[in-house]
Amino acid sequence: MEQGKSDFLVVLTGAGVSAESKVPTFRSNGGLWQNHRFEDLATPSAFARDPKLVWDFYRWRQDGVKNAKPNRAHEILVEIEAAHKDNFLLVTQNVDNLHEQAGSKNLLHLHGEIMKGRCLSCGATWGPIDYHNIDVPCPNCQTSKAWRPHIVWFGETPFFMEEIQAALKRATLFMAIGTSGVVYPAAQFVHVAKGFGAKTILVNLDAADNIGVFDQVHRGNASECLEKIWSDAKGNLFQN
Ligand code: OAD
Repeated sequence: MEQGKSDFLVVLTGAGVSAESKVPTFRSNGGLWQNHRFEDLATPSAFARDPKLVWDFYRWRQDGVKNAKPNRAHEILVEIEAAHKDNFLLVTQNVDNLHEQAGSKNLLHLHGEIMKGRCLSCGATWGPIDYHNIDVPCPNCQTSKAWRPHIVWFGETPFFMEEIQAALKRATLFMAIGTSGVVYPAAQFVHVAKGFGAKTILVNLDAADNIGVFDQVHRGNASECLEKIWSDAKGNLFQN
């Protein structure tokens, strides 16, 4: 660890954290990108070409999220945040709201939020909004039928990059949970944190693409692995 750094934990979560809540992942068995082409559904040009197809896809995904409940992994992350207070940042690639439902507070949605919309005219974001009702005007500029899911699509810049980079530099501990380490820039966060002296831990069912960078690897379900890590830490993850 760099001299003079005070303890700070950055947790990065991915679709694997919500898998036990029955929200589909992207690249594991039965994942979304195994049955759908992201080029048809998750790019600005797909939305321009065939908005109905894109809305149908995100409406179906939003319906799944509306019915989902947080699992034990989400709950443990709330307990970890409560124990480490201001020395904690949760960055999620997930667009569902299960971290919020569980009670996470210091949370950044890198890839957007499926319960929100974004106006194509003025850029305002708002939510919760039902994707079944896409004719509503923007509550800020009143332009009608000119909004999109508040999701970062392929080729677009993720949100909160400055805050996240600053947190990665501060981090003394970095944990990635339930993410395949395929999508950048998130897959690069471990390199940045490690480069600035953080200890790095991976919790994932399968071997992530960037597994070799992590100091410690826990293979298995997020809820079970986190339960063990958290119980071994006895309330302080910075101890070891
Ligand atoms: P992926 O679907 O790529 O990877 C999910 C990872 O979670 C896999 O490596 C699984 O092994 C693991 N996994 C599955 N079930 C698990 C469980 N119960 N416990 C622990 N791990 C489990 O999902 P992400 O890495 O999140 O982007 O994908 C990154 C981005 O790619 C997403 O945010 C999305 C997608 O395209 C956008 O939509 C912009």
